[in-house]
Amino acid sequence: MKGIILAGGTGTRLHPITRAVSKQLLPIYDKPMIYYPLSTLMLSGLREILLITTPHDQDAFGRLLGDGSQLGIEISYVVQERPNGLAEALILGEKFLDGDKCALILGDNLFYGPGLGTHLQQNTDVKGALIFAYQVSDPSAYGVVEFDKSGKVLSIEEKPNEPKSRYAVPGIYFYDERASDFARQLTPSARGELEITALNNLYLERGELRAEILSRATTWLDTGTHESLYEAGGLIRTLQARNAMRIGDVEQIARDLGWI
Ligand code: G1P
Repeated sequence: MKGIILAGGTGTRLHPITRAVSKQLLPIYDKPMIYYPLSTLMLSGLREILLITTPHDQDAFGRLLGDGSQLGIEISYVVQERPNGLAEALILGEKFLDGDKCALILGDNLFYGPGLGTHLQQNTDVKGALIFAYQVSDPSAYGVVEFDKSGKVLSIEEKPNEPKSRYAVPGIYFYDERASDFARQLTPSARGELEITALNNLYLERGELRAEILSRATTWLDTGTHESLYEAGGLIRTLQARNAMRIGDVEQIARDLGWI
């Protein structure tokens, strides 16, 4: 399995901060935001990573992360010309994937929790698609997944006004070898984007989508608004101060994994 981090977008909800700086380079306490999703992929055991950025931000990410060799990983770069939607990442990443399975993670999603790396690692040999589900108080800001009593997925809806469950779909998705092909079959939504929810629905219609509930011990933050950005920084600061472990420290993770 290879990893793709999508760090495109215009970050409009964070204007004016993101007029000149990519959202995914903003600090979450003591590290750039992108470190956190990168660390999640590394903890999943993935060492070949594609970073998708806007055309004008690519250089800055290159200065930060280079080719990844300092972390014992391989990072390559591709540009997303316009914010055409999350599912476009699978099309832009087709050459990089070269027929392999992939984990797609959004550059503004931060995960933290004991056992999370192991949980993800156990699922890297995915068949079909695997998404995750996480209980939140206001799911209408996210993709929302509905289950039946046996845990089977019934529906996934993008930002519904009347959510059918409290389970939001966090921005990490595991796909088999067909994701790029399926992404090509999508048509843009009303807001003009290739929606990741539409891709997940394609797998669902074929009976090939699974959703796993992330343990309550896991913290998931989407850091795309001023409020959530501020909260995330505070949370990382508090957790690190209380706890000898650092969070999202990609160099420490690379050392712990024996990659450097
Ligand atoms: C995107 C997805 C949504 C998902 C969310 C996770 O929304 O479209 O399904 O739940 O990421 O962060 P966005 O926040 O990009 O609008």
